[in-house]
Amino acid sequence: MKNKTGLFVRKDIATDIYKKTGLEKSLTAFSLITMGVGAIVGAGIFITPGIIAAEYTGPGAMLAFVLAAVVCSLAALCYSEFSSTIPLAGSAYTYIYAVFGEFIAWILGWALVSEYLFSVSAVAASWSSYFQNLLSGFGIHLPEALTAAYGTSGHPGAFFDLPAFVIIMVLAFLLSHGVNESARVNAIMVILKIIVIILFIVVGVFYIKPANYSPFLPFGAKGIVSGAAVAFYAYIGFDAVSTAAEEVKRPQRNVPIGIIGSLLIATVLYIALSAVLVGIVKYTKLDVADPVAYALHFIHQDWVSGIVSLGAVIGMTTVLIVFLYGGTRLVFAISRDGLLPPLFSKLNEKTHAPVENTWIFGIVGSIFACIIPINKITELVNIGTLFAFAMVSIGIVFLRRSPDFNKLESSFRVPFYPVLPIISFILCVTLMLELKAFTWIAFFIWLAIGLCVYFGYGYRNSAVRNKNKAK
Ligand code: ALA
Repeated sequence: MKNKTGLFVRKDIATDIYKKTGLEKSLTAFSLITMGVGAIVGAGIFITPGIIAAEYTGPGAMLAFVLAAVVCSLAALCYSEFSSTIPLAGSAYTYIYAVFGEFIAWILGWALVSEYLFSVSAVAASWSSYFQNLLSGFGIHLPEALTAAYGTSGHPGAFFDLPAFVIIMVLAFLLSHGVNESARVNAIMVILKIIVIILFIVVGVFYIKPANYSPFLPFGAKGIVSGAAVAFYAYIGFDAVSTAAEEVKRPQRNVPIGIIGSLLIATVLYIALSAVLVGIVKYTKLDVADPVAYALHFIHQDWVSGIVSLGAVIGMTTVLIVFLYGGTRLVFAISRDGLLPPLFSKLNEKTHAPVENTWIFGIVGSIFACIIPINKITELVNIGTLFAFAMVSIGIVFLRRSPDFNKLESSFRVPFYPVLPIISFILCVTLMLELKAFTWIAFFIWLAIGLCVYFGYGYRNSAVRNKNKAK
């Protein structure tokens, strides 16, 4: 009886998988790939390659992107197996609920909420600074007090990031009108952002100076590992695809295609972009906030630079859409299980979207974006994500050993089991250990708040535990 009502009570997923849940099944493999690329390619690629080249790797920056891609693809394989076995909303949280039980699932779910919430805030802050750059091109300047969060470096008079607040509110409005409309807008913007990145590559390739590639790795191989920990941020997002599982047609086949396909596209773009970037400008000059625009100014392609900045704003918008979407679906799944108040899983009858949940998530995300400096928020994004990836990787080993799941239909299996899931777990933990002490402390504080919420509300209201008790 203990494990039916105790802390580690497990969800009986097998029955849920075939149940109609109320969310509309409208997403295809194509919409999932655009959703994945939408989530992955954004602030990271327009900001990190310069810092990685200048501070960690030198011209070999693409190797840091390759290593980060390896870590992410191993985790992506594990996510794919989970999502093809358990195609339910909530992604890793739901998988872990079935495999490790409620308490661990809550901790993971709470860590994932930090990934999505803080990603929304961090990317909105980057969006705001690129957007203000574009506005200044037209001679429009906001009052200094409204340009960034209080304490942001380079903005001494700032108190509140107005553009970040407005963009999150606009997107929350869009998402509260249903997933179909948002997916369509998202797809158009994803295509535009890919065109803009290709434009940079095609224009830049003619200005590459082979001398800029040497020495290729001035900081040695160690630089690749530290560079990969930074590059990792640019890949975060493919996991958001699995949060949509309940709204997907043929999820067992389409979710793995969406996850792996989008990661592959992002990897090719990142490697090509960083190879061209360091070929155009000497790596020592790339320690700037907008390296791509900087490189284009460097070769006097100012008009391309304007277009690329516009592309960056569009690119970050799609990242925001997917993280806002993924975050609300995660909170939806947690609330449906009784671990958060039912308000978060209430669906609108017309749009089938969790409207209240979307607004609350958006408002909290925008408050963080407007009042906390960007460098502090981004610290938290990586640790929450790596924690989730590590749990999902090791979770595959338990999934395969569980008799409950052997009978379920699953079209995707991680190859070289159990070696790949274990390597994936080790790599995620290794990258976590590269993060700063501040990040660990902030993460533990976030988890402590989560434990208060769980023992104050979730434990008593858990649907699974209460059902088992009633039996
Ligand atoms: N991968 C996301 C981005 O780079 C977080 O914007």
